[in-house]
Amino acid sequence: MTDQTITSVSRENRVFRPSAEFQRQANLGSFATYKRLYAESVNAPAKFWARQAKELLTWRRPFKEVLKWKLPHAKWFIGGQLNVAENCLDRHLDTARSNKAAIIFEGEPGDIRTITYKQLHREVCQFANVLTGLGVGKGDRVAIYMPMVPEAAVAMLACARLGAIHTVIFGGFSSEAIKDRVNDCQAKVVITADGGWRRGKIIELKVNVDRALAGTPSVEKVVVLRRTGNATAMTEGRDHWWHDLVTLASPMHKARGFDSENPLFILYTSGSTGKPKGVLHTTAGYLLGSMMTTKYVFDLKETDVYFCTADVGWVTGHSYVVYGPLANGATVFMYEGAPNQPGPDRFWDMIDRHGVTIFYTAPTAIRAFMRWGDDYVKKHSLASLRLLGSVGEPINPEAWMWYHTLIGKKRCPIVDTWWQTETGVIMVTPLPGITPTKPGSCTLPFFGVVPKVLDENGKEVPKGSGGRLFLKQPWPSMLRTLWNDDDRFKKQYWSELPGYYFAGDGARFDKDGYLWVVGRIDDVLNVSGHRIGTAEVESALVSHPSVAEAAVVGRPDELKGQALVVFVTVKSGVTATKELREELRAHVAKEIGALARPDDVRFATALPKTRSGKIMRRILKEIAAGGEVRGDTTTLEDFSVVAALQSQEE
Ligand code: WTA
Repeated sequence: MTDQTITSVSRENRVFRPSAEFQRQANLGSFATYKRLYAESVNAPAKFWARQAKELLTWRRPFKEVLKWKLPHAKWFIGGQLNVAENCLDRHLDTARSNKAAIIFEGEPGDIRTITYKQLHREVCQFANVLTGLGVGKGDRVAIYMPMVPEAAVAMLACARLGAIHTVIFGGFSSEAIKDRVNDCQAKVVITADGGWRRGKIIELKVNVDRALAGTPSVEKVVVLRRTGNATAMTEGRDHWWHDLVTLASPMHKARGFDSENPLFILYTSGSTGKPKGVLHTTAGYLLGSMMTTKYVFDLKETDVYFCTADVGWVTGHSYVVYGPLANGATVFMYEGAPNQPGPDRFWDMIDRHGVTIFYTAPTAIRAFMRWGDDYVKKHSLASLRLLGSVGEPINPEAWMWYHTLIGKKRCPIVDTWWQTETGVIMVTPLPGITPTKPGSCTLPFFGVVPKVLDENGKEVPKGSGGRLFLKQPWPSMLRTLWNDDDRFKKQYWSELPGYYFAGDGARFDKDGYLWVVGRIDDVLNVSGHRIGTAEVESALVSHPSVAEAAVVGRPDELKGQALVVFVTVKSGVTATKELREELRAHVAKEIGALARPDDVRFATALPKTRSGKIMRRILKEIAAGGEVRGDTTTLEDFSVVAALQSQEE
């Protein structure tokens, strides 16, 4: 973490108090209620969570015990059984919500579909029957590689209904990434589409799946949704069209209850070393967390139209497009494509047309809107909006103020929500109408969350100083392990400081006890709100025949938060050319996906290393940022390497 970030955020002194109007209708009532419930949630967690779980979830069999905590392994709501799909769908059917819109969908070309709870239930039941017919049962892994269309949610919920474990792979990932993930979890079935629309073009998803499946022996069946209608190769016996299977399937499906700790999904996320980590979430705790945070953090009301811009390929899409909102019986607005298609005001246009009331997006998107210009926003009324959210990376105060003024018209509270794939749901956040906000701070912990900012020795740092962010105490939606790699789970999250979950972020508390997260401190970059492991990009680079060695660092970037800068040394006999630079950028995009395409490739004759041979990324970071190398260089093996890198003409 850089000192610069800490000083710049500490200059932020503005406080925004909730309006009396918003406060009057807030789901949680008052700040006093928050404080009382928070105290109970950390002092008497078993009592608190038992009450919430009984109140919010529909159980097939009641749980006997709230928590078994054998550090670092937690089991929540032991003895209980429930069905996630039933909680998201069936239980709304004998209420007034039955014919309420569950999903209002708009495709990029402008096609609109509204699906009621009753219809969604029917589609999920049918698709659950399809999956059963393909041999999918409890515990089987199903990979989902789809565009942002309602069928992605149908596929997830159908898996949940059967107790099968889904792993959603972001549609922007490459076939290499699909292959790795499918092989890691040994998926039996892949659900995909012919393509999806993005910026007026078709992304041919099935082509990527076919390429990946050349190296995935576990896959028996592929289900293909027809979305874009482009010519699509189908492998006889293995591939089936979604509509062909669904037409034959019964819309009746009797759901079973599954144990609270039955795995619900695996979601791969970037770690600091090696391959992506398969974060495992289970049934009851995850559902409770996502439902409860959606209810209170988004102050959800029966009449809301809720728009979270995240793709289902990310955890935000799991918790705040699918499970959290649907468990609450909310109306979710879902959009397939790019925010600037056909023009930079697509979102604002859709918000007005569909009457969106809650809008949840990422700082990188907000910065893009700012760059595109205020006029695109001002063309629209945005009068339906009442609440805004931010997630994915620290939001810079300037972007916060723009969001507040231009989008929220100074009337909508902003919830800056800090959390991670691993935490499953929002951990630190303002509660709208209740918590005064400060631009750039995610403010105060949600129920049951005990954040600590500690130094290298595990000592609490004084208020106002930076340190590493840890969470004390288990919470219901916490990751249970890493798929097939419990050792890495222990090492990655629980070995920095015994008894504490290590988040990998740097943070500080201010004098009011508000949390300011400043960014990652491990070797994970946050590019446009998406985590990218430096190790993954490096291994993609060295898989190229011309590359000898590679190091990847982040450089501060106005739009993306961080830009990817790679330093490579080439093998002897290879000439470092402009063409090779472009080839390497394309190579990384092919290996991982376009989101990991390096912004800047710099050739070096050597990389700065310590005497023990460790690449000194800190130095590379300083060089990448265009600054002086100021830190301690006494451990550097050969300073001339740095001098050469600095003098290099770009
Ligand atoms: C960062 C996304 C500051 C942080 C839900 C975290 C944030 C990582 C915020 C997790 C926020 C997320 N303020 N930083 N409000 N939200 N982050 O797993 O570095 O994709 O560790 O989960 O994003 O990214 P992930």
